[in-house]
Amino acid sequence: MKRYISLADRTEVLVRDEGTGPVVMLVHGFPLDGSMWEAQQAALARQYRVLVPDLRGFGESALGDLRLLTMGRLADDLAQVLDACDITSPIALGGLSMGGYIVWEFWQRYSDRLSGLMLINTRAEADSPEVARGREMTARRVLEEGVLNFSEEMLQRLFAPETRQRAAAVVEHWHRVVNRQSPQAVAAALMGMARRVDMRDVLPTIVVPSLVIAGEHDKVTPADQMRAMADRLPHAQLEVIAQAGHLTPIEQPERVTRLMSDFLAQWRLHHHPRE
Ligand code: MLT
Repeated sequence: MKRYISLADRTEVLVRDEGTGPVVMLVHGFPLDGSMWEAQQAALARQYRVLVPDLRGFGESALGDLRLLTMGRLADDLAQVLDACDITSPIALGGLSMGGYIVWEFWQRYSDRLSGLMLINTRAEADSPEVARGREMTARRVLEEGVLNFSEEMLQRLFAPETRQRAAAVVEHWHRVVNRQSPQAVAAALMGMARRVDMRDVLPTIVVPSLVIAGEHDKVTPADQMRAMADRLPHAQLEVIAQAGHLTPIEQPERVTRLMSDFLAQWRLHHHPRE
């Protein structure tokens, strides 16, 4: 079921709300939308209530009156989504890349609402000053000329070369999705990501079970960087997906769904034994 939730500032966001049972929420990466979790949501909703929002400004969700989308602000939006859906028990929260950056902020603000994490193709480091400057320049360019050139460059980095060959129609579909995103939202999120703080010291405080999924050919958040991140998480299990780049849930949907499903079965046993 699709529902539209009005946030505290009256911005309307879309949430796909499927299934019943312990709650799992999946947060998409940049500059995509929640439909990137379609395969995982369909499978997991047989056993869980799976919430998949379009983050503010992306997909079918409005941006509201903001020029800067910080990861903290997006984490606050997710807490409001949980409130609007009457969810009070701790959930399992998953995020891909920017979705993961938001998960760190959510942990810092609302750790009592979390009992499991899934960190997919993401990192805890902040941007270097050069990368942050590059993002700010890209944001200005996108506001001036629109998203088309940016989307071409971005998608080149996201998919593994073999996915481009094996699943050209899927890659083409995501080009169309990114081309539809609003320049204002893309620019606001780029500037928000540029202002991220380093979360590596927070990792040892994350005492809930965590599934970490990397892509063998991921150039954005390389598997080695994710291994170092997993090493700092007290209860992490790391899996590296072969023949995948930065978008493992799209590039290898069955493998990712299976890993998530196995992880969530254990999570449910410990945290929701009676549900
Ligand atoms: C994402 O997939 O969310 C982005 O690649 C994150 C980033 O640009 O750091």
